[in-house]
Amino acid sequence: MPCPYRQRFDTSKEEITVSTDQTVIIGQNIKRIDALGKVTGESPYPGDINLDGQLWMKLRFSDRAHARVLAVDTSRAAALPGVVAIFTAKDVPQNEYGLGTKDQPVLVGPGSNSEVPDADVVRCYADCIAVVVAETEAIAAQAVKLIEVTYEDLPAVFDPVEAMQAGAPQLHANRPGNILCHYKIRKGDIAAGWSQADVVVEGEYHTGYQEHAYLQPEAGLGYIDEAGRVTVIVGGQWVHKDQEQISHALNLPEDDVRVIYPAIGGAFGGREDMSVQIVLALAAWKLRRPVKTIWSREESILYHHKRHPTVIRTRWGATKDGKIVAAEATVIGDAGAYNYTTAKVMGNANLCVTGPYEIPNIQVDTYGVHTNNPLTGAFRGFGGPQGAFAAEAQMNKLAEALGMDPVEIREKNVLREGSLLSVGTPLPPGVSIAQVVEQCALESGWTRGADGHWQRPQPSQPDNPALRRGIGFAAGFKNVGFSFGFPEQCWATIELHGDGRIEHVILRLAGAEVGQGTHTVMMQMAAAAVGVPLECVRLIGQDTAETKNSGSVSASRMTFMAGNAIRGAAEMALELWNNEERPAVATYQYRPPKTTPYDPETGRSEPNFAYGYVAQMVEVEVDIETGHIRLVRVVSANDVGRAVNPQLVQGQIEGAVVQAQGYAIMENLVCVDGRILNPYLSTYLIPTVLDVPDEVKSVILEYPDPIGPWGARGMAEMPYLPLAPAIVAAVKDATGLWMDSIPLTPDRVVATLREHGIGVF
Ligand code: MOS
Repeated sequence: MPCPYRQRFDTSKEEITVSTDQTVIIGQNIKRIDALGKVTGESPYPGDINLDGQLWMKLRFSDRAHARVLAVDTSRAAALPGVVAIFTAKDVPQNEYGLGTKDQPVLVGPGSNSEVPDADVVRCYADCIAVVVAETEAIAAQAVKLIEVTYEDLPAVFDPVEAMQAGAPQLHANRPGNILCHYKIRKGDIAAGWSQADVVVEGEYHTGYQEHAYLQPEAGLGYIDEAGRVTVIVGGQWVHKDQEQISHALNLPEDDVRVIYPAIGGAFGGREDMSVQIVLALAAWKLRRPVKTIWSREESILYHHKRHPTVIRTRWGATKDGKIVAAEATVIGDAGAYNYTTAKVMGNANLCVTGPYEIPNIQVDTYGVHTNNPLTGAFRGFGGPQGAFAAEAQMNKLAEALGMDPVEIREKNVLREGSLLSVGTPLPPGVSIAQVVEQCALESGWTRGADGHWQRPQPSQPDNPALRRGIGFAAGFKNVGFSFGFPEQCWATIELHGDGRIEHVILRLAGAEVGQGTHTVMMQMAAAAVGVPLECVRLIGQDTAETKNSGSVSASRMTFMAGNAIRGAAEMALELWNNEERPAVATYQYRPPKTTPYDPETGRSEPNFAYGYVAQMVEVEVDIETGHIRLVRVVSANDVGRAVNPQLVQGQIEGAVVQAQGYAIMENLVCVDGRILNPYLSTYLIPTVLDVPDEVKSVILEYPDPIGPWGARGMAEMPYLPLAPAIVAAVKDATGLWMDSIPLTPDRVVATLREHGIGVF
């Protein structure tokens, strides 16, 4: 069957090309190539695509947080008129999947062929037990309820700290103590560090879950394409990784599986792991008919992973002139029942928990610990926000303890060119955090006095005595690209068509457009690399049958990786063109400098090949009667290396700020005994247009990355990192109280204020 999406919307046709007179394209605010389709509703999202004769799929999830599935009786469901097929664990040829480690059964139940020990055990409510395919969605939904599952309950654990203790229920036979990962950093001599410290600040920080809340819930269509491939049209972040996981589970060669992304309604890390991909492929492959599914918002919130909650205990020491001499931290992340991306996320938290500062003596232990709670995985910042939350709070508390300005203490300690990271190696060249901190301070109203000391601005206080304003400052750094030894790479193909002159350019690059604007940026970079106007460039992307592997749109990596791949392919294609080849076609694989994993005892490593740097100032207004926090003003200074499309950079900064605002003060996933109690946007509150800051000032700085394309660094995640700790510092400034557990929802804020006798009139 030919792809219905290609019939309707062919990325190689003119619908998505743009017209512009600009020939100097890097640095221009080119209108997004997908803008018109998205605002008019023309762009097909996975849920919009239909095929003749399609069936509907619904999934039966677990009714227990931890239990052995003894039997699955599908007879009553199968007898319902309109039910076409029901699949259970034994129908999955290789019943396991996972992005990092294949440690989760596709379907949980007895009798399957799986490498996962105890593949008949559900370990959370998001485990899937059966797939129902029926003539209509309503029949499939009805049949799901008629499936009878017999469970043998197992003891469950819902707190990662308890899960680490002796005697706790165990989730995986091969992961004793429920420890999925433990990273250690040992730098310098920690005892000597403490002996040099004049002041020491300690804290215990708690960060919560966060739901991605993308506009488009999970949906997709599986079918057999015209070449006989098992094909899934779905939203994701990495077509080739989806293809690999589907082909593994179905035990098919990768070439017999095809993954196509149409328009995608947001991702933020939430589409890195499998949702409907494998089960749609399974059903279409078994039935040789198109099969469609669309999750409700409730299903989306219940069954895809969340940002990792963490508990961080940490202690930092500094000399009286503000030099940090020692830092200790223990980070415990709730890994949920399966790895997903936990091992990498906690690796990032481990690196970020000592901040963008040069500290000679460090001891950090970071754990990812299994529980029977909801799944946890990638979410914008990828462990960085949790680490930064503790690190920046510690910096602000040190500044307070020393009577020093928060900008000044950062300036004294920031990583500089050649500084050694916590892991004992220097950052890659192009370290700009000192400049970023300074620019953010200046743009926020700080002044440097004649004595060289910084003078902070004072917020003007409202007349209403219940409203108190305060300002806070925080900084951050985050890697670009896959870390810790992952074989990072990106392919691009450039085709030059024409005769005497290059008439049009086709770029093939798999990278997914999840709403961030990457396709527009890729086309800008292709036009610039070939040296043609933008209207000559066409893009064929996000289809495994049409492109080679470009890696995930994650880790703020796509501009950096795609740009370098495009430049390599363009250079080769131009050489062929000059040798009179028509068309001139070149495919190039970009490989950045190698990275290395943590040493298991000391953490020593070269974890990343590039970074982006950020600093933010936040002014808040706290209503001490209600506990509401309003964001009055945010200044976000970001070194992006080179803004290929400044307007899209600004969009990323504003989007990150608002998403981090939700994380810091609004979004509260209520989870009791492993079950999410508020899987609705009516009860899980995210910021709306009425909540966003009155002003977000995006300060775009361009200190080129020496190996970035046109100097560009990744930037999509970085402006997320400092906001929560900056808000906490601003709330402290406004109320006099440190509040170290987020989200700072009004009920929590009010309770803390009342405990301290504030707001009682
Ligand atoms: Mo991400 S959290 O690197 O999609």
